[in-house]
Amino acid sequence: MQILIDEARLSSELETLATLTHVEPAANGTAVTRVVFSEDDLKARSWLKGLASKEGFSVREDAVGNTFIRWEGTEPELPAVATGSHIDAIPHAGMYDGTVGVLGGLEAMRALKRSGMKLRRSIELVLLTSEEPTRFGIGCLGSRLLSGALDPARADDLKDLTGEEGSTLATARKAAGFTGPLAATRLPAGHYHSWIELHIEQGPLLEREELRLGIVTSIAAPASYRYTIEGLGGHAGALLMPDRKDALCAAAEMILSLEKHALATGAIDTVATVGTCEVYPGAVNSVPSKVVLQIDLRDTELERREGVIRAVRWDRDEIQRRRGVTVCEELINADSPAQSAPPVVALLKEICTESATPYRTMVSRAYHDSLFMARIAPVAMIFIPCHQGVSHRPDEYAKPEDIALGAHVLAEALARLASEPGSAG
Ligand code: GLV
Ligand code: MN
Ligand code: MN
Repeated sequence: MQILIDEARLSSELETLATLTHVEPAANGTAVTRVVFSEDDLKARSWLKGLASKEGFSVREDAVGNTFIRWEGTEPELPAVATGSHIDAIPHAGMYDGTVGVLGGLEAMRALKRSGMKLRRSIELVLLTSEEPTRFGIGCLGSRLLSGALDPARADDLKDLTGEEGSTLATARKAAGFTGPLAATRLPAGHYHSWIELHIEQGPLLEREELRLGIVTSIAAPASYRYTIEGLGGHAGALLMPDRKDALCAAAEMILSLEKHALATGAIDTVATVGTCEVYPGAVNSVPSKVVLQIDLRDTELERREGVIRAVRWDRDEIQRRRGVTVCEELINADSPAQSAPPVVALLKEICTESATPYRTMVSRAYHDSLFMARIAPVAMIFIPCHQGVSHRPDEYAKPEDIALGAHVLAEALARLASEPGSAG
């Protein structure tokens, strides 16, 4: 039976989803900002649930808003085969990050249903809540809770960085209509037979090598920290230079220390970023008294990543002494790399080979919900080339035919996994 992906419909649904945003138009692409539980996010969720219901798929939501769209198999008591990704987008992002995995997954399920196949296992498309850390300071919130990687009690206390003083995940999710206990979001290992996420590459390799798809064999390990630097504020004219304990000058040294030590590993896989910097009191004529930095540090090797942060801490001690400031480090998360399951990777390779699709295996340097899904299921990811590797920008672009091809390979893989009697792992 033939699996036919409706490329035109998939592209038009991606375009429609991209209109559910609250952002200034960009000159160089489709700018999307869709912060979790914002009005746009809730509109996008209800539009997606409408598409699923129209197709006759059932819909379930958990206490953090993870949404499970299910096509029942002929043996529904067997663990389902799952796919999915996210629809939240960082400020001024593009329209493909996460969304191709959700809408591509939906189209893969619809194509399987249209083909008339009767599959043994159910197939579930999972929309995972807040893969991006924009609102609560930690990425992959939905998949962390679902896989048991985050303590539900700690999660409910996470500060809502975009909300009013005192607002937390608990208040934000309840306001969005997700009221149950977070502990109930947890799914046991073995709940899913297998998991495959379709995603844009967010790097340049596939396009550069003129390949149509990537098969991810491992996902780099991210860590994030918050550094609060406190010095001495005062009048920008009156506070004399020798008397200053300028928190922003100290923060600048911390940022450069991080860059220096990440570069010093000599490894292409070590990457470090300070993406936010809050300066208090934030007035041009006031010496900064306090600065809060958020640090994102990643590597494919855990020990090398730890080496960078250790070296930054030595510099921190020296900066504190020399400048008379205090630097407080808070660990937000430090995750381990994940490996794809060899049988799922082998299946994806087999499908690409049979269809003469040029592909390569690769590491994912970006993190994904699959990092956490790997804790409860055998996983793999399919990467789609994206133009010049650009992502997290309005000019992010993936070709419709590549997205459709990715959805096709996904559908083939879901069909074969859903026909299996045993475990894929
Ligand atoms: C995901 O968006 C990441 O930052 O890798
Ligand atoms: Mn992203
Ligand atoms: Mn993503």
